[in-house]
Amino acid sequence: MTIAVESQQTSYFTIAGDIPLDIAEGTLISVTRNQPLKIYSLGFQPAKSIPEIPRWFLQKYLKSSSNILEPFAGSGTSIIEALKHQIEVDWLDYHPLSRLICSVKTTYFSAAEVLEQAEKIIESSAFYKQAPETVNFANKDFWFQKPVQEGLEILKELILASSLTTQPVLWLAFASTVRKTSNMNDGMLLAARRSHIKEIPQFSREDVFNYFKFYAEKAADAISEWYNLVGDLRINARKLPWQNALDITGDCLYDAIVTSPPYINAIDYVWATKFELHWLNMVESDRDRLNLYANEIGTERIPKVECKELGKTNLKYLDRLIEDIYTGKKYQASKGQNQLRSRVAYKYFMDMKKHFIRSFECLRSGGYYCFTIGDTSRICGVDIPVASLLAEIACEVGFRKQFHFHLLLKNRKLNLPRNVDWAGTIKHDTIIVLEKAV
Ligand SMILES: C[S@@+](CC[C@H](N)C(=O)[O-])C[C@H]1O[C@@H](n2cnc3c(N)ncnc32)[C@H](O)[C@@H]1O
Repeated sequence: MTIAVESQQTSYFTIAGDIPLDIAEGTLISVTRNQPLKIYSLGFQPAKSIPEIPRWFLQKYLKSSSNILEPFAGSGTSIIEALKHQIEVDWLDYHPLSRLICSVKTTYFSAAEVLEQAEKIIESSAFYKQAPETVNFANKDFWFQKPVQEGLEILKELILASSLTTQPVLWLAFASTVRKTSNMNDGMLLAARRSHIKEIPQFSREDVFNYFKFYAEKAADAISEWYNLVGDLRINARKLPWQNALDITGDCLYDAIVTSPPYINAIDYVWATKFELHWLNMVESDRDRLNLYANEIGTERIPKVECKELGKTNLKYLDRLIEDIYTGKKYQASKGQNQLRSRVAYKYFMDMKKHFIRSFECLRSGGYYCFTIGDTSRICGVDIPVASLLAEIACEVGFRKQFHFHLLLKNRKLNLPRNVDWAGTIKHDTIIVLEKAV
């Protein structure tokens, strides 16, 4: 069985604002967005979805008395949409920074208190002569100038001593400060050396404090706009005890799962947030960070011996693609990369299968699983129709494909120059609605 969902289309409809509920099956659209709420952009997430997609799904398929699960919460786009529609949402994400971001977006904080605490921190920071030194990770001096390290250490100490009631928001402002004052250039996603970038701005301790103030004010502004809008609506969001989307159990039944799983061979969330993880003590050491990465769906942290083995999923077409990567049929990479990439692809699909099995158990009969994913990824020159394959795997575990359409991607880019012969780019997102048929 092949579930054809990839788009061969080159022409598309431009949609201003919300996606029409009666959009035709298989359409390719481009969305021009109305001014979004500030809460969406609060907190760094390298593969943010657009809110128009969960909004379309929730309006078309659910009622306000429904409940949903978001198992790859990221920066909480689906969570915000659910809450706006008075739909209960349970969520999880394996990444500690995502959990901090979503906790901030689903808890009431006083914006005035956030500003007051930030102000106090800035005032106290001026009295520090000697900064503590508590954070350590590989290449810290390469990525953070000395005065920046001092400024961040001082901020950290002061945030820890500040009122517990606003700390999560302040940590989020701190995370943005870490990113901004590192030697990565604006717009870079990954901490990777780029020889053609010569000019790195020089920062002082005061610059660090000023950025922190700026981000604290931005966060206060976003949360006050959000709470004004939510108003009397109850914030009905619950962080689940599981942190891994492979571990969810059917303790609670949902009307739908609305999410965007990780993209294969595209974003390494741990690498993209390496600095925040260390500076916020979300990991204790470099090893700890790599161990966290091993839990990511799509991880490349796979033991060498495992990579030697050619993985078999029992989906004939997928197994041929995995073998083509392994043997280097289209592209011979160096240093065991073909074997590694082949195993990454195999593990990605096997993990997603396990996740679909768990998800199926968590849904009521007639419930839905709506997900957004890049349509095709090229790995070692081999084109993998990810969206079709995931739909096929989901159908194998019992789902029925209900609907799909495509979204033209505009701004998604990685800052690493990619060798297009073997890595390629994702051109569309595909939105797939599956049903747990009664
Ligand atoms: C495409 S992003 C989701 C983006 C989100 N829709 C948003 O708009 O911010 C995928 C998310 O899956 C998370 N993730 C990766 N592997 C996971 C796992 N095994 N369990 C739970 N979450 C995982 C990543 O941390 C990332 O936040």
